[in-house]
Amino acid sequence: MNLLVVGGGGREHAIIKKLKENPQVETIYALPGNGGIAADAVCVPEIGAKDIGKIVDFAKSHAIDFAVVAPDDPLALGCVDRLHEAGIPCFGPDAKAARIEASKVFAKNLMKKYGIPTARYEVFRDPKAALEYLRGASFPIVVKADGLALGKGVLIPQDMEEAEAAVKSIMEEKTFGDSGNEIVIEEFLTGPEVSVLAFTDGTAIVPMASSMDHKRAGDGDTGLNTGGMGTIAPNPCYTPSDAKTCMETIFLPTLAAMRAEGCPFKGCLYFGLMLTPDGPKVIEYNCRFGDPETQVVLPLLKTDLLTVMQAVENETLADLDVEWHDGSAACVILASAGYPGSYEKGKEITIPGNLPENVTVYHAGDQLSDSKLVTNGGRVLGVTATGKTLRAALSDAYAAAERIDFDGKYLRHDIGKRALSAMEG
Ligand code: AMP
Ligand code: GLY
Repeated sequence: MNLLVVGGGGREHAIIKKLKENPQVETIYALPGNGGIAADAVCVPEIGAKDIGKIVDFAKSHAIDFAVVAPDDPLALGCVDRLHEAGIPCFGPDAKAARIEASKVFAKNLMKKYGIPTARYEVFRDPKAALEYLRGASFPIVVKADGLALGKGVLIPQDMEEAEAAVKSIMEEKTFGDSGNEIVIEEFLTGPEVSVLAFTDGTAIVPMASSMDHKRAGDGDTGLNTGGMGTIAPNPCYTPSDAKTCMETIFLPTLAAMRAEGCPFKGCLYFGLMLTPDGPKVIEYNCRFGDPETQVVLPLLKTDLLTVMQAVENETLADLDVEWHDGSAACVILASAGYPGSYEKGKEITIPGNLPENVTVYHAGDQLSDSKLVTNGGRVLGVTATGKTLRAALSDAYAAAERIDFDGKYLRHDIGKRALSAMEG
């Protein structure tokens, strides 16, 4: 079989490595892919993840049997709709279902209409009305741009002055472009955060191992928000009782709501949850695998990934017994100094050839230059280790991360620390 994966980051590398385990898979094309992915797939750097027309033409001319659309932008732009029109089976939601991530207003209104627990909120199109509302509000409060904003469209002002700056930045200066035409202002919730990615064919749902992201750039959750500096799975804060509550009050009701709205969701649905004193609530939905959550969740999947993805596409997920490995996984991101601000590129990367078998290096932002791997992004590599315990996985991931080098390598030193203290008290 010939497969096509749209995207070119660490998440896509994790998907590709897992798809390759299926002996029926002959060639995997990555559009665009990256320097490290080139060791596992045929990369096509000329075709970007948002070039929908070129992606569909490529799929038609390369006899693609199955496509996986991983990033949010092509999903929101209807890449899956176009591939389906061309007769190509694929994994991922259509554009209508992708609104669950692409429009926070859509997601919040869906949750309100169907009684799915989430923070109380108001929607504003007019900055003056937003400011008036904020004058009567209590702080901290949460201000979110409606549309996609590379995970950066959420601001948490601590007082009225910061709130004014947030509204101005999103709605008037359009820091996130048209994503800021509307905003959601919502109640600030507290509690441990948990990410749950789930396979769903619109009706059946298979939650994957829960995970914990580390979004801030600096140790101790300080500094700017990033795309994610490391992850662990499973998340020890998420108990079997939380899983049961989430299934009944959040997961199944969300799928039913999407069906009732005429846009059943097929693909990977990502639930960003907060375990509040009043029970689990939805912070956000993503219409895709998380990055870097995928780099710890997929290594724990025992069942063949392509088989699961085909069951999602064929709406036969209920018939499949999806199995998981015991143990834990930890991923430490190696970033370029300066990220998420400006950083230099083109630094040569050295990775020892004899890393232990339980360690996998996922390539997120690099490229080949004169057949050498050089840095080409903020998040460069994700170093994942699996282990019997979270402590063992973390120790092996950090040991490998130490042995990988490039000029300006930056990492957080406390990935998994909060999870360990939640487990060990
Ligand atoms: P999002 O992009 O919606 O996941 O938001 C980014 C981060 O902002 C989340 O991971 C939370 O840490 C924080 N956040 C978002 N919404 C809320 C909320 N209602 N209360 C507290 N923190 C929030
Ligand atoms: N790691 C968070 C995300 O993928 O949105």
